[in-house]
Amino acid sequence: MLQTAQVHNATQTDLAYQKCINPACGATYDARSVRTACDRCGDLLDIAYDWDRAAVPSKLSDFESTWSQRTDPVRFSGVWRFHELLPFAPQKDLVTVGEGQTLLQQADRVGQFVGMNDGQLFLQYEGMNPSGSFKDNGMCAAVTHANLMGAKRAACASTGNTSASLALYCSATNLMKAVIFIGSGKISYGKLSQALDYGALTIQIAGDFDDAMIRVRQVSQELGIYLVNSVNPFRLEGQKTIMFRVLEALRWQVPDWIVVPGGNLGNSSAFGKAFIELHQHGLIDRIPRLAVINAAGADTLYELFERRGVRWNGGQVGMDPIVQYNDEMDRHSKKADTIASAIEINRPVNLKKCLRALDAMNGVVRQVSDQEILDAKARVGAGGFGCEPASAASVAGAKLLRREGVIAPSDRVVCILTGHELKDPTATVAYHTTDQDVFNKTLGSRGVKKASFANRAVAVPNELDDIIKTIQLYA
Ligand code: F0G
Repeated sequence: MLQTAQVHNATQTDLAYQKCINPACGATYDARSVRTACDRCGDLLDIAYDWDRAAVPSKLSDFESTWSQRTDPVRFSGVWRFHELLPFAPQKDLVTVGEGQTLLQQADRVGQFVGMNDGQLFLQYEGMNPSGSFKDNGMCAAVTHANLMGAKRAACASTGNTSASLALYCSATNLMKAVIFIGSGKISYGKLSQALDYGALTIQIAGDFDDAMIRVRQVSQELGIYLVNSVNPFRLEGQKTIMFRVLEALRWQVPDWIVVPGGNLGNSSAFGKAFIELHQHGLIDRIPRLAVINAAGADTLYELFERRGVRWNGGQVGMDPIVQYNDEMDRHSKKADTIASAIEINRPVNLKKCLRALDAMNGVVRQVSDQEILDAKARVGAGGFGCEPASAASVAGAKLLRREGVIAPSDRVVCILTGHELKDPTATVAYHTTDQDVFNKTLGSRGVKKASFANRAVAVPNELDDIIKTIQLYA
């Protein structure tokens, strides 16, 4: 059974507590309780801290002094080396598998594609995490909390990366059993193979991610299984550290833009919270702007924010347009559909938190087509390291915002590459293929017409002369 939470008591020793995001409610709960929504009003929860009692450094560069402690796995972690900014668990209880060793790379060739001046576009390669996506940043935090709560099973619904991450943490730490829910045919083989190989109980339901999300919430409630989807506020604490590492790589300078793909909207929500807190601590003097990029085939945030004017509004989010849009989607049986399967989501659970982030970070939302996503992905790949389709939405979105003049060529822009190139080889091979049938089947059906940046394999007879001539012709 789920543990019954007590309402937060100010005299307790924990620095952290859970707090309803709705300022008009503001209910608080013990950090040592399992919950994904406010009991009183049903809204999402934040992790809040009694910062006066926390050991927040006086300047961000103070974190550099912990680099010398990296033989300690907790300080090696790119998440927990910022423990002072997410102090919800004692150091001895932190779970790590070495997450967060990621790279911020200046990417001038991709920058030229986007339309930036040289030196202004940076790519944050979160695909370098142990399970190959940014999810590990949050999963180490969620599993830390789950373990503190004595959980023996943890569950999630997933488009593939959350499940790969949960499965990895469960098998690598042996602390609990992973139960994952995926939609039928909606998950790339790279990600499915991870969940299976890491030994997760994999439940494939006849439906898509949105359906799986509803079911996993019901089942977790019913069976008392710890839920690690991003409605879990502890997960988002870990994801704040992506922004801390971006700042660290920029020698603590604040960029002008953070551009991130939007699916369930956990990342964008976490980034907003990270910057709100850093600003409150006086650790940064300004907050960058945020661009959240939807795939055109899964564009709920874009529709609500840019077309229907839904705003955070001090926490008083007008629900009518949201309810109306959800009804419209139901009436027309509208299902998310994009080659960027990671963000193929129509009912983002963190919508309100993302609206708060957009408000705090003077944000914008854009949608990009599968064509734009795959072209951007090919340019990222040609620039080295590569990424999966959903990640490239950030670069495609930056290009669009450059074209619109919203981003200036002299701005300093950081695009978050959320997942590794090898997560979804099917989309990559279909883009570069010489086989028109493969192209049409995988991409043409999604409105992708051409592969302008394809790098095609060259078929050569098995003859030395022919092979040598080919190489001399092309390289
Ligand atoms: N990029 C990748 C590679 C993802 O896997 C996801 C989300 C996103 C972007 C969107 O991030 O949800 O924080 O807005 N994948 C989830 C999953 C939904 O189940 O793996 P978000």
